[in-house]
Amino acid sequence: MKGLGFIELRDLSFEYKKDRPIINNLNLKIQKDEITAILGPNGSGKTTLGKLMMGILKPTEGQAFILNKDISEMTLAQIGSKIGYLFQNPEKQFFANRVEEELGFVSRLKGYDEDYLEDRIEGLLRLFQLEHVRKSSPLLLSQGEKQRLAIATILINEPKYLILDEPTTGLDGERKRLLVDLLKELVDRGIGMTIISHDHSFIKQLFQRVIRIYRGEVIYDQRI
Ligand SMILES: Nc1ncnc2c1ncn2[C@@H]1O[C@H](COP(=O)(O)OP(=O)(O)OP(=O)(O)O)[C@@H](O)[C@H]1O
Ligand SMILES: [Mg+2]
Repeated sequence: MKGLGFIELRDLSFEYKKDRPIINNLNLKIQKDEITAILGPNGSGKTTLGKLMMGILKPTEGQAFILNKDISEMTLAQIGSKIGYLFQNPEKQFFANRVEEELGFVSRLKGYDEDYLEDRIEGLLRLFQLEHVRKSSPLLLSQGEKQRLAIATILINEPKYLILDEPTTGLDGERKRLLVDLLKELVDRGIGMTIISHDHSFIKQLFQRVIRIYRGEVIYDQRI
């Protein structure tokens, strides 16, 4: 077993409602250099686990760490500079009028250099094959384009790690293949990722480690 995990969960438990545990005393060490898949049936706690790994939810018991630092002592901005998080329904988060504005919005608020930002936006529009819709409203994009825009919007912050919750929702076979190629390219660029999914045919093209959860517990954990 390798040493320090990129993300570590120690004796982690979580309940939304008292005495209704969703995550049960879970221990997990996630490494940055292998693509980790989290699988499990509907309602098994995958999204909850992803949000605990990202610090969006606070554990009821136990701790979550990023690079050995307790997440509860980090701000969401600090976590966000290390990890990009794709929500299960990302289109709910779009708010700009145009795709190119959506991409640059948060970075502009943060006061990034405009020339640098424009270069990054161009690069991401190209990489994600969104150049033809750059002037469109994000809300009018196809499902696949929305999903690619959501991932591109995360990458503009240059996170070193991604947690993707059901990235293939609403994608057809062709769009899934496109997403597989894209994610492989990101891995080649040194970005690590955890992919939450119940889409086996998609995930098996990518993962190096697979973790199955059921009723908030790890029931299977294998590397290939
Ligand atoms: N905000 C909430 N308040 C109360 N219960 C919740 C909340 N969010 C999720 N749950 C419950 O927690 C359990 C786990 O939900 P979660 O969304 O983590 O599952 P999941 O594995 O991601 O499911 P899916 O495959 O459908 O996305 C479910 O029983 C769900 O009803
Ligand atoms: Mg889910």
